[in-house]
Parts: sequence; structure tokens; C-alpha cells
Amino acid sequence: MRVLSGIQPTGRFHWGNYFGAIRQYIALQSEDEAYYFIANLHALTTIRQREELTQLTLDSAIDLLALGLDPEQAILFVQSDVPEVSQLCWVLMTGTPMGLLERCHAFKDKKAKGLSADAGLFTYPVLMSADILAYDADCVPVGEDQVQHIEVCRDLAASFNHRYGEVFVMPKPQLLDASARVPGLDGEKMSKSYNNTVELFEPVKPQRKKIMRIATDSRPMDQPKEPDDDVLVQLYNLVATEPQRDEMAALYRRGGFGYGDVKKALADAAEAYFADARSSRADWEARPDDVRDLLAAGAKRARQKAAEVLDRAQHACGLTGV
Ligand code: TRP
Repeated sequence: MRVLSGIQPTGRFHWGNYFGAIRQYIALQSEDEAYYFIANLHALTTIRQREELTQLTLDSAIDLLALGLDPEQAILFVQSDVPEVSQLCWVLMTGTPMGLLERCHAFKDKKAKGLSADAGLFTYPVLMSADILAYDADCVPVGEDQVQHIEVCRDLAASFNHRYGEVFVMPKPQLLDASARVPGLDGEKMSKSYNNTVELFEPVKPQRKKIMRIATDSRPMDQPKEPDDDVLVQLYNLVATEPQRDEMAALYRRGGFGYGDVKKALADAAEAYFADARSSRADWEARPDDVRDLLAAGAKRARQKAAEVLDRAQHACGLTGV
């Protein structure tokens, strides 16, 4: 099995990114082959500041390494370091019906809001298809919001194969486990666009303050409460040990405690849960050139595969062999 996924470096990673996706990518890295890349070409459709994009790209790589992505097991690279993908993107673009892209949600939502979209956003799913097809990926772990894009990829691959012969491997989406739904500080889904995130590597003190400021209801102290409905408990359950989780649930059902204590417990559990990752992050951050070397080595391996697939596609449609 060949696993592949991309992560956009559009902001610093938060708990939603980790528990919803990154943790699961890392669990899959022991598969036969795993390709994980930082999708800076996609991020270019939203981040227009040079410094910001380069910094976020490096930070994303460091975060992934700190969280346990093992470059010995997975191939980690930056999307734009594999130019073959952009070449393949063009080939695919020539076989992409406009209507297919008009139905895709990123573009459709923006248009519905009356915002002007650029061709990069419009053709975003084609680039994503090239990302997937360039490495003969057969398993693509993604969140629910990306499944439509995998369907586009399958459509494009099938029509290319139909026209020119079996060139592309048909990929399948692997839906990430959404049962670990991560609520934001306001109880909505945790998302950068809702401004309700807890960043993974925010320094401990401001993070603690942020947790202490989470809005809670004005339940009287002595009243028992159903733990599973509470945002604090949902967040706590992500980072606490099993006995800690049981104890907290019992405390809620019994009543007679203050939310301040729960927040403190949450901050403590978060600190303990991410302590190793934080220290690993500090190590990597101190040697950014090693991270760059590692990304370069990843790109080199990725390019070998992508060049092979591009060659197959170019040959099939008459771009080579003149
Ligand atoms: N579009 C994906 C997202 O926003 C990121 C991405 C880019 C991706 N290329 C990909 C994911 C290829 C899976 C496969 O989350």
C-alpha cells in the first residue's frame, strides 16, 4: 500500500489538526510507503506574504517531526520541490471539464459569498489530483471536506486511462476518524477560521491563560453535570490518561466542584501530553539546516517516483517520443 497526504501550511497547527489528522498520518507511516508533503503550492492561494509562507512551511515541517513523523519511515517533503507535479497538473488540466471544477466546494463557497476567486483556487482540485497520481498513491487519508477532491482525482484518472491506456493508479480516500471531534474554545469545531483554536506549540504560559479564559456556563457548584456535553471535558479527554478521564467524569456526575479546577487540570494534562513533542520541537528548531536537508532528501526520493509517473503520462499522450 502506498499512502499519501498533504497538509497546507496556512497557519500554525492546532489540536484539531493533530487529533483530527496528523496523529493518524503518523500512525500510517509504517505502511509500505508513505508520502507526506507540505502543500505550499495550495497555500499560495491564500498566503501572499513571502516571509509568512516560507516560515510557515519550515514550521510545519518542524512540527510534524516533533510530533513523531519519522523521516526514516515516511517520505517528508515540500510540494513545490517536486516540479513534476506541476507538469502533470497541466496534462490533467487539459482533460478537466469546467463543470467538474465549478461544482467543487472551495470555489463554489467563495463564489456564493460574492468573493472573487482566482484560477488557482478554481483549479486547486486538479493540482491535488496531480499530487496524488504523481506517486501512484492508492490510499489517501483525508478529512470529510477533501473527499470530493479525491472523487475529482478518480474521475480525471479514469478518463485519462480510458483515453490513453492504464497510466494512473486509482486512489481511494481513507476517511480520517472524526470520532475524535475536536471542539474549539467556543464549542464549535476547532478551526483557524473560527478563531477558536488551541495551538499545539504555543508557549505553555499563554496557553494556560487561554485555557483559564474558556467561557463556561454559570452552573451552581453543587449541581451534577453530564461530562460528555462539556467542552472542557471533551478537550481534557484528548490529553488525559484513562484513569484521569474516569476520575473527571465521576467528578462531573457527582457535582460540587468549580470549573476553575477543571481548567487547571486541562492545562496540566495538556502540558504533560505534549511535553516530549515540545522538547523535540526545541531540538529541531535549533537546527533548521538539518530540517532543510531532510526535506531536500525527501524531495529527491519523491521526485524519482514523480518523474517515472510523469514520463508514463507524457509518453501516453504524445508529449515524448516525437
Ligand atoms: N487540499 C488538502 C487540504 O486542504 C491538502 C492537499 C493538497 C492534499 N494536496 C493533497 C491532501 C493531496 C491529500 C492529497 O487539506
